[in-house]
Amino acid sequence: MDETPKGSRQQSQGLTPSDRAAIKIQQPRCIWLTGLSGAGKSTLANDLEVELHQQGLHTCLLDGDNLRKGLCSDLGMDAGARKENVRRIAEVARLMFDAGLIVIVAAISPFRADRDAARRLFTQGTFVEVHVSTPFDVCAQRDPKGLYREALAGRIKHFTGLDSPYEVPLAAECVINTHEMEPAQACAQLLELLQQQ
Ligand code: ADX
Repeated sequence: MDETPKGSRQQSQGLTPSDRAAIKIQQPRCIWLTGLSGAGKSTLANDLEVELHQQGLHTCLLDGDNLRKGLCSDLGMDAGARKENVRRIAEVARLMFDAGLIVIVAAISPFRADRDAARRLFTQGTFVEVHVSTPFDVCAQRDPKGLYREALAGRIKHFTGLDSPYEVPLAAECVINTHEMEPAQACAQLLELLQQQ
């Protein structure tokens, strides 16, 4: 594995990322799930993590909703805050990747430039962008947190897909519309892709 992808991190004289991965007998990855709120990213991320864990693999799950309670609790939802949110998530993902883990990120990450910047932190072929492409109307219908109802009533600003844009990935490694399949099928599709790699 190339130890110094873009951003060339300074390595200490001790262990390398390859050393840390080797002892876990796995290839680190960053599997980045992007899509609208309510698209099913967290469900898919959790299911995937359970499957990988059952295969004896070492994982780390970074979920936007959770990170916004801690590391990113100072950030709002305007464009600048989302950019910073995604930047922080990407940096943490990179640290976990260097620790030898298979990192699963679930975050709206609405802007292409920010997702591309995240991708550039990883060596070629180790960043897997997954577009959870569930349509807006389906997400609004599900509305698991009641946010769409609030946003459509004008009570939440900068809502993704309403008054804040979602830039569809142009070259995602995988596209999953959770409206067209059962969660287990969505997870199986993603696992298959990972195994092919
Ligand atoms: S991101 O755009 O910066 O990547 P992130 O995934 O961390 O977003 O957090 C999104 C979560 O914040 C949503 O799942 C939802 O629960 C909540 N949320 C609160 N306000 C908004 C909003 N204006 N637009 C979208 N999601 C919002």
